[in-house]
Amino acid sequence: MIVILFGPPGAGKGTQGELLAQATGLRKLSTGDLLREAVRDGTPLGQQARRFMDAGELVPDPVMVGLVKESVLGDRAARGFILDGFPRTRTQAQALDSMLTEIGKPIDNVLVLDVLDDSIVQRLSGRRSCPQCGAVYNEYFDPPAVPGTCDRCGHALVQRPDDEAATVKRRLDVYRQQTEPVLGYYREGKTPVHAIAGDRPIEAVQDSLRKALGL
Ligand code: AP5
Repeated sequence: MIVILFGPPGAGKGTQGELLAQATGLRKLSTGDLLREAVRDGTPLGQQARRFMDAGELVPDPVMVGLVKESVLGDRAARGFILDGFPRTRTQAQALDSMLTEIGKPIDNVLVLDVLDDSIVQRLSGRRSCPQCGAVYNEYFDPPAVPGTCDRCGHALVQRPDDEAATVKRRLDVYRQQTEPVLGYYREGKTPVHAIAGDRPIEAVQDSLRKALGL
């Protein structure tokens, strides 16, 4: 099964993708996570991507397509995956179609998390993540047991540099201008697109996602 988790920054793609991956055994492929790992490791990709990410802009398509291609084509024998944060442009969507044709797998579902802009701004201002194990928390909605400390591994939590208010505003604009139109691409084709109300508790959103996938 191949599922695309779609939605604005802070809609809950990472949170829901993690839960879906646990429930289905599918691999979650997050382009944001791959890029942050590259930035942390100081690789050439990370050095190239960092200035786009810090400014809330999209990393150029050729870089992103190259990054995802490795994982998708390497997944030939696997049961499928959950894409979080890719595709974000029509060019990326077309490139993904070519990759999937090559491995003979169709996209089963595009799941769109709809969340109001006000909720997004609040969620992203409260997001804290663990640089050690990748766990994600929220000061307002999903706090760790000990403030500032990861429940899973005990490491100190950090705030993402692109969660600063002005950058969040730019990321939202970029989503509306460059990414949301990709839904038109899928609606024009035969891929099922399900809109899910994302302004609800995490468990309720997860239930709706699973229902949409027939799980
Ligand atoms: P990426 O990491 O993909 O960022 P994003 O799409 O902006 O999404 P986020 O990770 O901010 O949010 P999310 O939807 O995963 O929400 P989360 O579950 O964390 O990309 C970062 C950057 O990398 C981009 O800006 C771009 O520069 C670059 N990039 C990545 N992919 C690219 C591509 N394909 N092409 C070009 N550039 C690319 O939840 C957010 C917070 O809310 C958390 O604190 C969480 O605990 C909380 N929360 C979640 N669900 C709920 C709920 N139901 N109720 C209350 N709180 C909730």
